[in-house]
Amino acid sequence: MADRKIQKLLEGLQSDLERELRATLQYMYQSSVLLGVGALSISPHLRQEAGEELKHVAFLSDQIVALGSTPKLTAPKFGEARDLKQMLENDLDLEREAILEYRERVKQAEAAGEVGLKIRLEELIAEETEHMRALEKVLRGWQ
Ligand SMILES: [Fe+2]
Ligand SMILES: [Fe+2]
Repeated sequence: MADRKIQKLLEGLQSDLERELRATLQYMYQSSVLLGVGALSISPHLRQEAGEELKHVAFLSDQIVALGSTPKLTAPKFGEARDLKQMLENDLDLEREAILEYRERVKQAEAAGEVGLKIRLEELIAEETEHMRALEKVLRGWQ
């Protein structure tokens, strides 16, 4: 019974890991390819976000190992938009998806008796919410 719940949790964490890898690569790509005024104003922010998403990758990888499995670390496809507004919209989609998925993972961690992990996942929700709010703010004032 408990094993089945851990299995479900592991499947979810593995898909979270893939999404975090996608976010890391997407932010890294965007921070490199931006030209014009965006290169000056927004590239440093995107580069910093890439670093934060990489920390999420490391966290999830370690958790998957701690629960007895092996993390799958392969490069997923990511958004290769070159238009700044499209870039930020792609990022916002990914942040919103992350929040929804982590809410589900919190429930699964609780059901599996993994209280410490549940708390850490809630912290991830708080971080992804900050990422989402920052993007919403920029896109709201777009002209
Ligand atoms: Fe993340
Ligand atoms: Fe994020």
